[in-house]
Amino acid sequence: MSNPSLLILPGDGIGPEVMAEVRRIIDWFGDKRGLSFDVSEDLVGGAAYDAHGTPLHDDTMAKAQEVDAVLLGAVGGPKYDVLDFSVKPERGLLRLRKEMDLYSNLRPAQCFDALADFSSLKKDVVAGLDIMIVRELTSGVYFGEPRGIFEEGNERVGINTQRYTESEIDRVARSAFELAMRRGKKLCSMEKANVMESGILWREVVTEVAKDYPEVELSHMYADAGAMQLCRWPKQFDVIVTDNLFGDLLSDAAAMLTGSLGMLPSASLGAPMANGRPKALYEPVHGSAPDIAGQGKANPIACVLSFAMALRYSFDQGAEAERLEKAIEAVLASGVRTADLLGEEGVTPVTTSGMGDEILKA
Ligand code: NAI
Ligand code: MG
Repeated sequence: MSNPSLLILPGDGIGPEVMAEVRRIIDWFGDKRGLSFDVSEDLVGGAAYDAHGTPLHDDTMAKAQEVDAVLLGAVGGPKYDVLDFSVKPERGLLRLRKEMDLYSNLRPAQCFDALADFSSLKKDVVAGLDIMIVRELTSGVYFGEPRGIFEEGNERVGINTQRYTESEIDRVARSAFELAMRRGKKLCSMEKANVMESGILWREVVTEVAKDYPEVELSHMYADAGAMQLCRWPKQFDVIVTDNLFGDLLSDAAAMLTGSLGMLPSASLGAPMANGRPKALYEPVHGSAPDIAGQGKANPIACVLSFAMALRYSFDQGAEAERLEKAIEAVLASGVRTADLLGEEGVTPVTTSGMGDEILKA
């Protein structure tokens, strides 16, 4: 059997810096664990624009459709702010998500014990926290028609439309139930069925899908109450599923319960391919961080954890993913910190590759 394939798109700014550490970790799995990947690397974002005049070349798009998983660093930077909207670096990432039809966005909020003091919440509220927010990524108010700014009478009106079809809700709900089955078998669905028809349909369809997952304990919550509960006692949740807009807000809020942007991975999954693996794109939540790019200051952990998610969700290597996450936990427990994780005085931060060294050692 041939090795599973990975397309690596480092992108811009700190993207290539953090991805270099992931490459070393991928090689380690090949050398030490007999887990080899066919890795190819290509350009995305500003780097692709500089080379080809487009933030994602058609050949790169075609490759992304063929591989088992795509791993992306970050795109964008001030240099590209002057570009026309149609060729901005972000358009490369959006095209990948759209053409791969990645409808299920997985955003973990996980607290490493060593960083529990780093949270803005009390230590016992976040210590040991491990929840997952599943955000619908391809539909809802960011895409619904009609949209635009129109003249109405003697003033302007801005319009966006929240629209969800039954099949769109069904597929993201199934992805969340599948995830709940692999985790704590508890799923909370969030919408605003009290004031939105799309929310009423959302609740109905999720309830119907639940019949196929009798082992999963399903609850429903209005998204505003959910936001409060996330801040009050996040450990009551295991998996949360919600729409594109609420998911955007709730996943950002939940992520920050646990500290730095440099620690947050994500996965965006689509329909199963012929080999049974889902279409998949893994990327850190952070951007290209132009303020620290090129200085060896970036924390590579978000990108490394994104690769751990790839091991788990694309390659069925849950035990190896855990091996990697445990190594990161051990490194943090030993007090090693990149600059973004510095709270205490008197600790000298390690560089990006210094953190890579420590993870490999662990
Ligand atoms: P950002 O995430 O790049 O940076 C925000 C702050 O967090 C900065 O102070 C940065 O130094 C810090 N930071 C981010 N990642 C870090 C890491 N791994 N280690 C240490 N510190 C880290 O967001 P910002 O500044 O709003 O955007 C910068 C550029 O990135 C823009 O061009 C933006 O469009 C793009 N961007 C791209 C994203 C993507 O590729 N998915 C997501 C967000 C922004
Ligand atoms: Mg957001």
